Amino acid sequence: MERLQKVLAEAGVASRRKCEELITAGRVEVNDQVVTTLGVKVDPSQDFIKVDGRPIRRQAKVYVIFNKPKGVITSAKDPEGRKTVTEFFKNMKERIYPIGRLDYDTEGLLLLTNDGDFAHLLTHPKHHVPRTYLATVKGIPHGTQLDKLRNGIELDDGMTSPAEVEYQDVDMDKKEAVIKITIYEGRNRQVRRMFDAIHHPIIKLKRVQFGPLQLSGLPRGKFRHLTPQEVEELRNEALSAGGGKTHKIQKGE
Ligand code: URA
Repeated sequence: MERLQKVLAEAGVASRRKCEELITAGRVEVNDQVVTTLGVKVDPSQDFIKVDGRPIRRQAKVYVIFNKPKGVITSAKDPEGRKTVTEFFKNMKERIYPIGRLDYDTEGLLLLTNDGDFAHLLTHPKHHVPRTYLATVKGIPHGTQLDKLRNGIELDDGMTSPAEVEYQDVDMDKKEAVIKITIYEGRNRQVRRMFDAIHHPIIKLKRVQFGPLQLSGLPRGKFRHLTPQEVEELRNEALSAGGGKTHKIQKGE
């Protein structure tokens, strides 16, 4: 059984909040009875649901990997009028939304779906799904500075959990380095703040891997549907990473 507003949102009627308004406005019927209270649960495979007298259509679940370009915002609408990720999916009949977010200036791997449970599973902090980034930074960080990132570093919202960090490329002329970093949490602007904390601010940031899924081969601004096997692998990663399989839990966690 699922909450009525969730079923409506997943059928593409509107956002969950808007669907709550439709319910309280008396525009939603379940098995020919108008429902106006919010806690009602329904069985989407059994119950007959209508909005404004029209039956809702259940949507197939959609899972997409997208190579987000820099200069695109990870939300449905932007009050400042900047380009949003949803503009890349205008022709898709299902209403999908991003799983987590990437900053406006960050490019790379972004997953989108209309499966709320799947999105919740992958982004829940207790599941520690690894995310790998290539960070081009100002200056060449010393090995001891990278150790600080490996061991956990104090940010204004607390210590980070241990990360995997390695040099990918060093350009002595330009005085820049590309560092590959894998983190197991998804705090706001986390990678940028970690490099700020060791005084090597990020020039360019790209996410190249999420759990077992890699970006490789997908052109910038393009997307493709995940295979059922990839969806399963991501689900398994979230469930097993939560048990600490790939994440070495260290003191203090
Ligand atoms: N960390 C950041 O700083 N930015 C992102 O977009 C993702 C992770």
